[in-house]
Amino acid sequence: MSETASPFRRHLRHGSTSGQPLTRRDGVLKVTGRAQYAGDTHPEGLLYAVTAVSRIARGRVISLDVTAAKAQPGVVEVLTPANRPPLSHDPNEKMPPFGFRVEVLQNDTVRYVNQPIALVVAETLEAATEGAALLKPQYYVEAARTGPANGGRYKPSAVDIGEPARTERGNIEAGFAAASHIVEAEFATSAQYHNAMEPHAIVAKWDGDSLTLDMPNQALALSTRYYAAYFGILAENVLIRSPFLGGGFGSKVMINGPQILAILAARMLHRPVKLVLTRAQMYGPVGHRGASWQKLRVGTDGNGKLTALHHHTLVTTSSFDEFIEPTSDASLPLYASTALLAEHEGLRLDIGTPGPMRAPGAAPGSAALEVTMDEAAQAHGMDPLAFRLLNYAETEPGTGRPFSSKALRECYAAGAERFGWSKRPLGPRQMRDENGFLVGWGMGTAVFHCSHFPAQARATLRADGTALVETGGVDMGQGAWTALAQIAAEALGLNPDQVEFSSGRSNLPDGGVAGASGHTASAGLALHNAGEDAIARLAELAMGHPDSPLFGAGNVGVVAQDGRLHRRDNKERGESFVQILARAGRTELVGTAKAARDPDVAASHAMYAHGAVFAEVKVDPELCQVRATRLVGAFAAGRIINPRLVRSQYFGGMIWGISFALQEEAVMDPRTGRIMNADLAEYHVPVNADVPPMEAILIPEDDLYVNQLGIKGVGEIGLTGTVGAIANAVWHATGVRVRRFPIRIEDIMPSQSV
Ligand code: MOS
Repeated sequence: MSETASPFRRHLRHGSTSGQPLTRRDGVLKVTGRAQYAGDTHPEGLLYAVTAVSRIARGRVISLDVTAAKAQPGVVEVLTPANRPPLSHDPNEKMPPFGFRVEVLQNDTVRYVNQPIALVVAETLEAATEGAALLKPQYYVEAARTGPANGGRYKPSAVDIGEPARTERGNIEAGFAAASHIVEAEFATSAQYHNAMEPHAIVAKWDGDSLTLDMPNQALALSTRYYAAYFGILAENVLIRSPFLGGGFGSKVMINGPQILAILAARMLHRPVKLVLTRAQMYGPVGHRGASWQKLRVGTDGNGKLTALHHHTLVTTSSFDEFIEPTSDASLPLYASTALLAEHEGLRLDIGTPGPMRAPGAAPGSAALEVTMDEAAQAHGMDPLAFRLLNYAETEPGTGRPFSSKALRECYAAGAERFGWSKRPLGPRQMRDENGFLVGWGMGTAVFHCSHFPAQARATLRADGTALVETGGVDMGQGAWTALAQIAAEALGLNPDQVEFSSGRSNLPDGGVAGASGHTASAGLALHNAGEDAIARLAELAMGHPDSPLFGAGNVGVVAQDGRLHRRDNKERGESFVQILARAGRTELVGTAKAARDPDVAASHAMYAHGAVFAEVKVDPELCQVRATRLVGAFAAGRIINPRLVRSQYFGGMIWGISFALQEEAVMDPRTGRIMNADLAEYHVPVNADVPPMEAILIPEDDLYVNQLGIKGVGEIGLTGTVGAIANAVWHATGVRVRRFPIRIEDIMPSQSV
């Protein structure tokens, strides 16, 4: 893309604070235990709530021993459908954009295991826990629908949040007709449940019609509107405080039933109420990644060029609501097939409604896509990287909109070089290590769209030359406090140490959603613009005053740097912020901004971050255990504000890739619909010993379209590409094509003939 056509001026400044690998502002607070999480809040008069949850997947609660629970010393109240106070919004009505149907004791129906069926409130956590146990629910049990054999298949009207369920670009039939080779492959992926270190927690406190909530939350302003609707109050009377999150991953964007019950109890009892879900209770009401069954069909011509790519996904959702993970859409933005068809079906089961989980759609979809691409390469006897270099898209497939294909090419080249890909034998089972383990190398392409949420911010210059910058954003561990402060400091011409950063409260200017890898770009742009607004106001003060060296500099313009304003044409002619404010008799000066993506640019350009992941695995030839032993990712995600944090985000995504490929699986008992491994002992995620040496290469990319700052997202892309790369490495080691995730020993075993 040519720079002259950009609607934005060149955006990179030199000698700036952005781009520096600063350590996390919240790091010391966290490692010394001084960071206060929601569950650490103990207001005066606090009561403790515990949800009693269903142990059946479908049916009705026919009795609860409320008398026994209330007789437990310390128990204050038991909420059941019989006495649950009314809500101002019907919990069976969705509230757009992210509001799901929730279970808040509206009746005695059970729709999934771990659904709240009562709330016990007590003076102590122990009393509430015991009270919940004494309820001893009796059920009318109906057969649980737990899989494709008994679930309800249907065609959804939308996937994700309002995206089309079916997208065809070009003519798919014609594409296959033109193919000389056709590869078909099927994949299954497991359900995954949210296991953020910090479970869902809330402390609810009412003061008349005002509500204060201490809770981890990825979407502060949006959530105030949801809670206001449920409780019939004004959104500005809801204060959400969410300074620290122990992980969000999509599960803390949504409103869930247990939270609403805690708020109801607090209003009913006129005392603050705390509710913290146990880990087991998170396997149901707070969203998860549904299981998928994917069919891919790929056509190539005699030269190995893609002519058709058809991706069909069947994905689970609940019996009463809909979240269809946009899995097939992973095949839309990457490879230059003449014809593309991505389509989805839903499978209704007696489970909690799925929801977003890190790289929704892109993670399971790219896993299947990248394995299929390898099989297509194999059909042509081609190296998998050469096949991708032949087929990656130069412009967005089907729309022709320009996107960052040059950066993708650089990712392929840099990753391959660093990994040593050129030494890879073409066929499988060619490499062994010194212990006789089978060694395999595989790769996958990474891609993730660039989201942008409308956001607002405020920047206050103070008389002492420091600044306070504020936005109602969220640091869920990604480093937002640090990176956003760097952006603001740069706009203000200050050192980050001179900038106080305030975030994580809903009564600040709306910082948008911390999700979809869009927070740094969204809140960052608002902070940048607020900083520029403050500087413009400061410059007006100076340029209009005859005693200022900047008097009359208006036509030339001024530059903010190192706490000073100076003339653009003469660095020596200027003065400090302190001097300007003092002369004007101001204790402070406030700049504000609202920022959003330019819709015209968004319509004319495809906006994605790109990458390539290379994996090595070793497989024990007797036991068929697989270990990922080396990962190299190269990613291009526009302007990098803080390379230390960005690398950490890439690693986090790649580690989840290991988890997805080799470990993570929610095991459901098909008879009862219960998740059998709803704890961190048996729900496997990588620990340090599972994580091999990893490298994340930051490919410089100057994208002048994605937004005025050139920032793309980094939080989710690391997960894409990685799963497929590991699966392809398993094939290269063993000759066995992976058909389901996580990869199991028994899937590799049959072909072993060592
Ligand atoms: Mo994310 S799955 O948008 O937190």
